[in-house]
Amino acid sequence: MQSVVLARRPEGNPRETDFKVVETPLPPVTEGTFLTKNHFISLDAGFRNWMNEDSGDEVLPAMALNEPVMGLVLGEVIESKHSDYSPGTLMMARFAWQTHSFSDGTDFIARLPNTLEFTPSAYMGVLGDTGMSAYFGLTDIGKPTANDCVLISGAGGAVGSIAGQIAKRSGSRVVGIVGSEEKAEWICQALGYDAAVVRDGSESLDGAIKRACPKGVDVFFDNVGGRTLEAAISAMNHKGRMVLCGAVSGYGVTPYGPNNLFDIITKELKVEGFMTHFRHERYEEARNQLSQWLREGVIKTPEYRLDGIENVGKGFADLFAGRNFGKTVVAV
Ligand SMILES: NC(=O)c1ccc[n+]([C@@H]2O[C@H](COP(=O)([O-])OP(=O)(O)OC[C@H]3O[C@@H](n4cnc5c(N)ncnc54)[C@H](OP(=O)(O)O)[C@@H]3O)[C@@H](O)[C@H]2O)c1
Repeated sequence: MQSVVLARRPEGNPRETDFKVVETPLPPVTEGTFLTKNHFISLDAGFRNWMNEDSGDEVLPAMALNEPVMGLVLGEVIESKHSDYSPGTLMMARFAWQTHSFSDGTDFIARLPNTLEFTPSAYMGVLGDTGMSAYFGLTDIGKPTANDCVLISGAGGAVGSIAGQIAKRSGSRVVGIVGSEEKAEWICQALGYDAAVVRDGSESLDGAIKRACPKGVDVFFDNVGGRTLEAAISAMNHKGRMVLCGAVSGYGVTPYGPNNLFDIITKELKVEGFMTHFRHERYEEARNQLSQWLREGVIKTPEYRLDGIENVGKGFADLFAGRNFGKTVVAV
């Protein structure tokens, strides 16, 4: 089996060389465990957090050097001595970046239907953790309506590409913040965003958001944090809702703290963070609704796909460089 290990702790944005592929023999399957062959590895920006020393929390312990990197995979049971998991069982699971995984069933596992209706990698993206984050954040917290202007940061990434399409369903004006002109054009043409703000430093974020959202922002869905969050707070309308999903600008560096938190009081904003991890019991609800939208063709499932476990490190670095359009997955 092949595993991607953490060769050194990334400093700032991860680099391909922070990771290394190692090969080890497959150990035997013991009583009460099962073995999977992993078909896809999902690359998720949030896992960068647990690559820092002493970063462990209630979700995951800090990752250890020279050990397989934790992530999310789509796996299929190929051998089992566990009564609940027979060969052929498909799952999205929190397993390490490996071609095969062993489990005693106590890991974070979401079973998938035996016959997949959509392309398998979609179960890592729109029907996986990132699509569900967009779904939970908007349906539980953002609740956009036709009169709202919705602003989304990281708008062309895995979460953002789905959040934009869900927000559009409510009839809102939907504006995305992205890192390049090319991605700005793509989110408007391929995903249906009404306008885009490019954070390339050519204009202040405050000014660019004001131009794209002339009536102010009613719902902000944040994947980025830091200065982007600060600019969004300034643009919020009275009684606006702020959905805090992620803060990728602060992973691996000292995070920048917004200096305008008093606006939250004077504008009476609702600010709520959430973790999809803690909504495990609602995965089926989310997957059913997102599947229905896919079936109806009202949302698309864009992905940035790489092939081969040797490209996992590159794919993870690409995420932080904004090279991904949609969900980043690696077929293994
Ligand atoms: N709360 C939850 O349960 C949950 C679950 C899943 C993910 N998340 C969070 O959702 C966010 C998106 O994750 P993802 O896996 O879907 O990644 P992603 O959005 O597919 O990729 C990250 C994107 O963020 C932008 N970015 C990277 N570094 C940045 C920086 N320093 N400043 C501003 N933008 C930057 C880049 O796009 P541009 O260059 O185009 O801007 C990049 O494409 C992350 O913050 C993640 O932690 C939260």
